Amino acid sequence: MKTQLENIYKNAADDLEKASSINDIEEIRAKYLSRKGEFNEIKKGLKDLSDEDKRTVGALANEITRKLESALKNKYDEFYKKELNEKLEKERLDVTLPGKFTPQGHIHPLTSTTNEIVSIFQNLGFSVVPDEHSPEVETEYYNFDMLNVPKDHPARDMQDTFYTKVASNVLLRSQTSGAQIHAMEGKNPPIRVVSPGRVYRNENINARKNNFFHQIEGLYVDKDITFGDLKGVLNEFIRLYFGSSRPTRFRSSFFPFTEPSAEIDVQCIMCDGKGCRTCSGTGWLEILGAGMVDPNVLRGVGIDPDVYSGFAFGMGVERLAMLKYAIDDIRLFFNNDVRFLEQF
Ligand code: DAH
Repeated sequence: MKTQLENIYKNAADDLEKASSINDIEEIRAKYLSRKGEFNEIKKGLKDLSDEDKRTVGALANEITRKLESALKNKYDEFYKKELNEKLEKERLDVTLPGKFTPQGHIHPLTSTTNEIVSIFQNLGFSVVPDEHSPEVETEYYNFDMLNVPKDHPARDMQDTFYTKVASNVLLRSQTSGAQIHAMEGKNPPIRVVSPGRVYRNENINARKNNFFHQIEGLYVDKDITFGDLKGVLNEFIRLYFGSSRPTRFRSSFFPFTEPSAEIDVQCIMCDGKGCRTCSGTGWLEILGAGMVDPNVLRGVGIDPDVYSGFAFGMGVERLAMLKYAIDDIRLFFNNDVRFLEQF
């Protein structure tokens, strides 16, 4: 039995010598030291020995088991350290590597231009009409009738309007001027608001014109408002938006809902006024229409034109952005080409 024990130990020591991983060690432990392992099988035979032999063989068996256990433990520790080091080495983090670039979206240039214009007017004391008070799908009543443009009047043809099939009087608004009516209905002056929004027209699309675009409507109604106030506010707006050095001109014009009416042009930034495709050779781009609110419009919403007066304006957001950033084609705003959008 002694030789048997020694042979088993020798085999175990050989196996251990060949072991190359923690896994191998677990297998060796199972093979020799588990309940069904080789040592236990031998120890079962102890009961048939004499007391004397039991003592010596038993002691030897215990000693060999301890030796094997401690050899296994040493090997185990060695492999554990080795495997841990290999793992750490493999998963090593290079904190100096550049990070992965995640593209980030940003605000569309038309939105940021709108925000900038609106905040200039807020600083001048105007408040902003909430979206739901100036809908894009409008009735003729707000888009034309109340703005002093009667049915069958040629002024309706100034804007080629998209009608809907919802009802014969429901249309996509051709201008934000209807917001003036929404702002005045049921309210008393002073009224001092701006209302940004999208408008639609059946235009032939080109570098200056698209079949939808954006406007910011403005309205100031109070006692003693004059054309001088209109000029003062709009000149101050242009100075703040463009800086002082941009040539502009005031032209008289006609709109059914203002009397007198005017338009403001800004010199074309693409050609410095020499004439180009963007300004169709004129050297100027119109940025807004304006005027003193027609007494008929005030009367329509129940404001007495003998007591109150006001001015109104409607400006084109795309035009203002084009003139500030030298964008030569309005269609660029709507194509959503990231090479364009990224520049803002
Ligand atoms: N609604 C006009 C347009 O789209 C622009 C305009 C002109 C607005 C005069 C006004 C105004 O408020 O007073 O052509």
